[in-house]
Amino acid sequence: MPPNWPYPKLIAHRGAGLHAPENTLAAIRLGARHGFTMMEYDVKLSRDGVAVLLHDDTVDRTSNGCGRAGDMTLKELAELDFGSWSANEYAGESIPTLASIASYTRANGIRSNIEIKPTTGSEAETGQQVARLAQRLWTGADVPPLLSSFSEVALAAAMKEAPLLPRALLIEDEIPEDWEDRIKRLGCAGLNLNHKYTTLPLVQALRTRGYTVAVWTVNDMARAQELLEWGCNAVVTDEITHITPATLP
Ligand code: G3P
Ligand code: MG
Repeated sequence: MPPNWPYPKLIAHRGAGLHAPENTLAAIRLGARHGFTMMEYDVKLSRDGVAVLLHDDTVDRTSNGCGRAGDMTLKELAELDFGSWSANEYAGESIPTLASIASYTRANGIRSNIEIKPTTGSEAETGQQVARLAQRLWTGADVPPLLSSFSEVALAAAMKEAPLLPRALLIEDEIPEDWEDRIKRLGCAGLNLNHKYTTLPLVQALRTRGYTVAVWTVNDMARAQELLEWGCNAVVTDEITHITPATLP
């Protein structure tokens, strides 16, 4: 394993959020029960500047409330049910703070990929605040969290705030021609790629230059094996019940 990838090769997506409500402690616990030792989850800021786990700009899809998360205080977010939309058994699941997830994951030996997912317009502030908090919450950890983002503004702010925390640039679709310039400019360890646009020549180009490659969201076992054989460092999956550390050769 290269020194800049001190992480496992299998990562649960949205904290194992296909079989439990995404980006909740319940999901992370479920992923851990299936043997996952690393979770990817999405983090943004509440109106009062608290880092919380949430994918969308609004709470509409994943809670019983509605509105922009960035317009709500932590107290208001904490009153919502982030579990019932997924299954009755998760009724009452609350939105986790990054601090609570740091505490749980560190105590249980789980690695973290924190995707910095700013609400629109708060990219720099979110990158700075999440990096600052992550640096403090993982002080003394043997392995730091990997920070990733589609937002180059957020990653630049994270680099300025906590230069020693590893970063990866997320690429949504086709890889831009100037990918290496972007990696260097943002001081990234590498790229986190959409598997639909991930090719062998691209992986080889990245890996031979010493950059890391994690690929999302890979829900087919044969594709996961292929990507790892190509030299990808890790795959991020929703399918925590059949693509598991125990079943992946
Ligand atoms: O970090 C990889 C992946 O999570 C990016 O897509 O939309 O699921 O956050 P999304
Ligand atoms: Mg994500």
